[in-house]
Amino acid sequence: MELFDVYLLYDITPVKGDGCYVFDKDGNKYLDLYGGHAVISIGHSHPAYTNALCRQVRKIGFYSNSIKNPLQQELADKLEKIAGIQDYSLFLCNSGAEANENALKLASFHTNRKKVIYFDNAFHGRTSGGVAVTDNENIKSAFNTGHTVQKLDFGNIDSLETELKKEDVAAVIIEVIQGVGGLDEASTDFYQKAAQLTEKYGTVFIADEVQSGYGRTGDFFAYQHHEIRPDIITIAKGMGNGFPIGGVLIDSEIKAKYGMLGTTFGGNHLACVAGISVLDVIEKEELKENAKQLYEYVREKASGISKIKKLKGRGLMIGLEFDFEIAKLRKDLLFRHQIFTGASSNKKLLRILPPLNLEKKHFETFFKALEIALTNY
Ligand SMILES: Cc1ncc(COP(=O)(O)O)c(C=O)c1O
Repeated sequence: MELFDVYLLYDITPVKGDGCYVFDKDGNKYLDLYGGHAVISIGHSHPAYTNALCRQVRKIGFYSNSIKNPLQQELADKLEKIAGIQDYSLFLCNSGAEANENALKLASFHTNRKKVIYFDNAFHGRTSGGVAVTDNENIKSAFNTGHTVQKLDFGNIDSLETELKKEDVAAVIIEVIQGVGGLDEASTDFYQKAAQLTEKYGTVFIADEVQSGYGRTGDFFAYQHHEIRPDIITIAKGMGNGFPIGGVLIDSEIKAKYGMLGTTFGGNHLACVAGISVLDVIEKEELKENAKQLYEYVREKASGISKIKKLKGRGLMIGLEFDFEIAKLRKDLLFRHQIFTGASSNKKLLRILPPLNLEKKHFETFFKALEIALTNY
């Protein structure tokens, strides 16, 4: 049977990961500045993580959400403490899109409204509601177009207020730093006013932290930099370091009812253990602080390379913008210098999303390779 052919693949077969490196089946070693698309938070095959997962699977890997699983509470308590958040509850699921789908549904239950506002260049996943609030018409089927949604200019507070005033908006969903869209971030003033206006007009403010969360930006959540409090926060990628897990953090104003949300696999024993060990490592190895410090180094290096026109993002969620399309540069870095990097819908932007335990020496290797590769442009 053939695989359904939806992915454009590089001819590389990783068979092993170790920290910030992956190794392919031919023994080639690659520096991973892509983190499997911002997923690898604590490094490939971190021993604390692999040991915890092995220990757990020998005990019990899965049951269902009809029994008590104290690991869920342990994960929630740890997340509350390490993220520095209060008065939220946690619903566990399996992916970023699923987290957003549940967040949108909750907002609609809570407000009894159905319209959702999203922003240009947004990406929120490929489930029905998630893709409906994603700014990419190519990945929407006719089935996805049945939602009541409205796209607005990212960062334009006046158009947002005009819509919110109609008092028919269930939710505003926003990536504080856009991932797939190319690392754009609006001003603190915009986020703060958006938070005030959503509160005023009875709309739920959803921060999609699927990519920007879990310490990636140097703060636990990207929104914390702007000193706002979302009503709902969605999480996934870095949460399980590759183990599929997602979550929805829900303000205590939004009340649960039995059966309102549900999932078979969400919050299973293995996923929780993955999530708990990720949080332990983030805290113990001070990975948020590491992300912040390394960004300063990148800023200094990038300012010395004239072909880099703009540095975007924060922490280890970084975009290097050039005045040419980077597809070939990315291939050169991968096949000539064995360095994985990422792309985005901005074709001139190289995306850097490494494991958060990256070291300065890894960036030194990258910048040396980049300067050699750039001599061809
Ligand atoms: C901001 C954001 N939200 C949601 C998603 C969807 O996550 P998943 O692919 O786990 O469904 C992504 C994936 O790239 C994302 O970057």
